[in-house]
Amino acid sequence: MKIAIVGVGHVGAALAYSLLNLETASELMLVGRNQGRLQGETLDLRHASSFFDDPPLITYGRVEDCRNADIIVLTLAVPQIQLDRNAMAADNAALFRQVVPLLAEQNPAAVLIVATNPVEALTQYTIELSGFPPSRVMGAGTIIDSCRFRLSLSEHLSVHPDDVRAYVLGEHGDSQFLWQSGASVGGVTLDPADIPQSMIEAARSSGTDVFRLKGHTCYAISEALQLIIRSIAGDRLQTMPVSTQVNLGDEFPPLCLALPCIVGRTGVTRRLQPKFSEQEYQQWLTCGQSVARTLEAIRE
Ligand code: LAC
Repeated sequence: MKIAIVGVGHVGAALAYSLLNLETASELMLVGRNQGRLQGETLDLRHASSFFDDPPLITYGRVEDCRNADIIVLTLAVPQIQLDRNAMAADNAALFRQVVPLLAEQNPAAVLIVATNPVEALTQYTIELSGFPPSRVMGAGTIIDSCRFRLSLSEHLSVHPDDVRAYVLGEHGDSQFLWQSGASVGGVTLDPADIPQSMIEAARSSGTDVFRLKGHTCYAISEALQLIIRSIAGDRLQTMPVSTQVNLGDEFPPLCLALPCIVGRTGVTRRLQPKFSEQEYQQWLTCGQSVARTLEAIRE
């Protein structure tokens, strides 16, 4: 299986390293413009791979060299000075216009995974630019938001994070919301009173805290991408809140939001539609309005 990472900045490099022990990957290709830097990343990863049992072949090249990949991860982005996930929407959309049509032409069977912010809008834009079926294009969605919330809740309740099931849904950004009625610990549904609003807010802002302190985020998002890749590569059919195309009704254009999906070798094999409370449904529509506005702004 060939995996290509397009855009090898902090996130792309962290993802490449985390994939060295993915036995199902026969080739890992680093794709970008700065060939000197890509050669350096490739050499460093090849040296690291000597510590692994069955590492993939590490290669590098330009977009025009990227062919016949099975999975393509889009992490390319313009540099950010703050974690306002919509701030660089137009510039990142321009990058996507440059690369996605050619990648789609040269990799017609690939599953595309979008990491670049604003991820829901750019996932929908990638569906349009690639012409691929929506099931074969997904975004990192609110996987890391859900992980940050579960970690905060596990600390608040003094319980292991693995025993906390909870989804943050909608849009990876300010309009995201916690699907409270879907939160449980050890299989026991949580009473909303057990989830202080302050804790929800703290989890929501923790990505911004990381960005403020270290200037970017990379490890959590690269692990979220690795989770998606493993479920595709191994046809694991795991459930995770990826960005996927949804239909919000006639007053909305086609757009992507994050909701629990089953992910397998062909991409999103099934979407699970949570039963929302009236308040959660309004929050869901608010996310849709936010993504629709961003889409309108980024299309040329
Ligand atoms: C974060 C970036 C990926 O939340 O938006 O870490």
